[in-house]
Amino acid sequence: MFFTAAVLGLAGAAVAAPANIVPNYPPHQLSTGFRLVVNVTDKALDLKPSVQGLYVDSIHVGAGLNVAGVGPKDTSNIFYQNGTAAEYRYGRATTITDEATPLSPFGLSLSKNPGSETLSSAYINGGAGTPGVQISQFPEPYLFLTPETFVICNTPLEYYQGRKFLVVEQAATTVSSDGKIEKNIPAGCAPVRLLPECATLETLPAGSYASHEFALETGCYADVASINWSLYGP
Ligand SMILES: *[C@@H]1O[C@H](CO)[C@@H](O)[C@H](O)[C@H]1NC(C)=O
Ligand SMILES: *[C@@H]1O[C@H](CO)[C@@H](O)[C@H](O)[C@H]1NC(C)=O
Ligand SMILES: *[C@@H]1O[C@H](CO)[C@@H](O)[C@H](O)[C@H]1NC(C)=O
Repeated sequence: MFFTAAVLGLAGAAVAAPANIVPNYPPHQLSTGFRLVVNVTDKALDLKPSVQGLYVDSIHVGAGLNVAGVGPKDTSNIFYQNGTAAEYRYGRATTITDEATPLSPFGLSLSKNPGSETLSSAYINGGAGTPGVQISQFPEPYLFLTPETFVICNTPLEYYQGRKFLVVEQAATTVSSDGKIEKNIPAGCAPVRLLPECATLETLPAGSYASHEFALETGCYADVASINWSLYGP
């Protein structure tokens, strides 16, 4: 009897511990697969209609070439972080989705826009992604894609004769000569975080070019839309 009670006591303590360590942040799970969900961090700069809650997807702009866009969940991509544990720790992992036939790795990459010192466009092209485009890690208590700051802009795409699409871009933070931190958010773009929402990474069919051998377990939120942010934070 005593023994049973002691074991139950220990089990209770183990369950209670995580809540004591991180009382102020939304709970998360672990998954290899995840979707990326838009969270507008400054509501005053949201686009009209709002981009809050949209999911990152691929906009086809040529063979093996996609611009990273945002749209509804049902046409969004399932991503995974690729790399060794050490690569993730040192900020050298990449974020990949599988596309094409046979399924091949398409990495999320950032490429500096011509004529801008701070703004990059985001692509989901066949091949490796940009190292460091990965989910934030301890001691950062929130889970989101780095490097900050991602923005959503309504941008004309040449491939579609200048038709506008909601695309993902990235604005590098700089420090001015007088020590002021500049976020460099372009006019007309919404500053966002891209949050990982757990999703099932499907087993690859035989003959795939992609491999999940280095797909890392990633912290992710079960359902981003259900998080009440006003309950969390320092
Ligand atoms: C999501 O955005 C809200 C403000 O709209 C903010 O309070 C919250 O901290 C954001 N979440 C993350 C993970 O940054
Ligand atoms: C995934 O990571 C492993 C380990 O670093 C690397 O060998 C492999 O080339 C990566 N795959 C892609 C598609 O980048
Ligand atoms: C979020 O939490 C705040 C603070 O407890 C509460 O006032 C608000 O009603 C909640 N919002 C929703 C949608 O549950």
